[in-house]
Amino acid sequence: MVRRAVCPGSFDPVTNGHIDIFARAADLFDEVIVGVGVNRSKSASSGRLFTAEERMEMLRQAVAPWPNIRVEGFSGLVTAFCEEAGAQAIVKGLRGSGDYDYELQMAQMNSHLTEVETVFLMTDPSMSFVSSSLVKEVASFGGDVTDFVPPHVHRQLLARLAERRTGDG
Ligand code: PNS
Repeated sequence: MVRRAVCPGSFDPVTNGHIDIFARAADLFDEVIVGVGVNRSKSASSGRLFTAEERMEMLRQAVAPWPNIRVEGFSGLVTAFCEEAGAQAIVKGLRGSGDYDYELQMAQMNSHLTEVETVFLMTDPSMSFVSSSLVKEVASFGGDVTDFVPPHVHRQLLARLAERRTGDG
């Protein structure tokens, strides 16, 4: 049987912390599917910087070195996506106790909904303070985020923030 895992998230944008988790999941499972949540209800209201297509394209470039990782969009429940994809597990990174409290609740709900298992990988300590939101905030105020995202993401991040500033007048 092919062992398949889904790494779900919004990835707005993908960080090196995410990529570290994908790579480690790719060592543990035969196939890893990075599932990009494209639920409409979240996109308008939660301050997304990139469209789903842009997030997926940045992810595709980021995971290109791993032949057993692929990127797909999904809407609806992550458990339904796992069932459609034939994935037995959801893999997520845990940065600390804040993540744990929230992730435990979701893992238990997801395990109530289906038989999918949630596997937690502990974030690399060098990335434990990195999140997409903080990267966006720091970059928007001119801070250096080159250590936290791949070069192609960094370029697109700076370009989008510059567009936003021009757009805001
Ligand atoms: O934490 P993120 O990166 O914003 O995660 C986004 C995503 C898409 C993974 C999350 O919102 C999700 O799983 N959405 C699907 C809806 C769902 O299954 N909800 C129930 C979770 S118990």
